[in-house]
Amino acid sequence: MSRLQLTVIGAGQVGATTAHLLALKSLGDVTLIDIVEGLAQGKALDLSQSAPMEGFHSAVRGTTDFDALAGSQLIVVTAGLARKPGMSRDDLLAANANIIGPLADRIAKHAPQAIVIVVTNPLDVMVALMLHRTGFPRERVMGMAGVLDSARLRTFLAQRLQVAPTEIEAMVLGSHGDLMVPIISSITVKGRPILGQIPDTELEQIVQRTKDGGAEVVTLLKTGSAFYAPASSVVRMATAILQNQHAVLPVCAALQGEYGLWDVCLGVPVQLGAAGIERIVELPLTPQERTALAHSAAQVGDMIKSLSTIAARPRTPATST
Ligand code: NAI
Ligand code: 2OP
Repeated sequence: MSRLQLTVIGAGQVGATTAHLLALKSLGDVTLIDIVEGLAQGKALDLSQSAPMEGFHSAVRGTTDFDALAGSQLIVVTAGLARKPGMSRDDLLAANANIIGPLADRIAKHAPQAIVIVVTNPLDVMVALMLHRTGFPRERVMGMAGVLDSARLRTFLAQRLQVAPTEIEAMVLGSHGDLMVPIISSITVKGRPILGQIPDTELEQIVQRTKDGGAEVVTLLKTGSAFYAPASSVVRMATAILQNQHAVLPVCAALQGEYGLWDVCLGVPVQLGAAGIERIVELPLTPQERTALAHSAAQVGDMIKSLSTIAARPRTPATST
């Protein structure tokens, strides 16, 4: 039986680390594509030579040829510019839109049945652009950010409370930026609500550190942005899809009325399985959380409108199921 065909576009920090994790977990054969001659080929060669020690069976190849997208069941898009110190994710908007638009056309041409996970920033707008330009149903185009932002929050809380990060359940919704929305009302530690377990001021500081989580890494690295936790977050989503887990994760998805929001791509809890987005889960939110989500959506909506390539709003494709 043939293995699943997984493609990662962009062989930089996030792309190569994602390819490595996909292979380590033997989730399928992995193709790495980059426009820089030799980069994807060199990293794929190096990665494939870790198989004898790691014991994985995935084939890993690298190329500059986008025809290699053909037959991909899952495509992870990491191509584009990353932040430098002092830059916001939104500073990347125009440059990365010029990369993601043509890539979407190539994906639609060569892999019309693929599920696409977008990573490139500014995330929510790039997902809207990918959805619009591929014309794929909204079940098959999504973005990675909420898993990462939630992981940062869980990690900081775990360090403060001296418990394992896996004991903390937390969801960060909304946009991947300053207006992200940690759902404090639903955070639990070993199954118990967080509220009352640490002083409110400390909780607020941890929430702020989560919002600044990407910038904190950028400031330390000076030459690029985070990639280990982002790659793990992508692979968590990929695993839910490829193993048809029906897992509920925070994912950037196109909203058509869920949470009272229309025609915007935003982080919400989503059930992921073999078809991609199986359903959007509507959590009970406090009035403040609902307002914060609406603010986040308005900001993303304005950025989407500023992209002339998406016309006024993302296309509303028919559902595939
Ligand atoms: P990087 O600079 O290490 O890698 C980007 C790669 O994309 C480069 O190798 C470049 O040659 C390649 N590339 C550029 N145009 C291309 C094209 N048309 N086709 C194929 N490859 C192309 O950057 P890094 O750190 O891997 O980040 C990638 C993107 O992911 C950035 O936009 C970054 O902001 C974003 N990011 C998003 C996160 C999220 O939570 N959504 C988390 C971390 C990064
Ligand atoms: C992050 O949150 C840069 O968006 C990226 O690390």
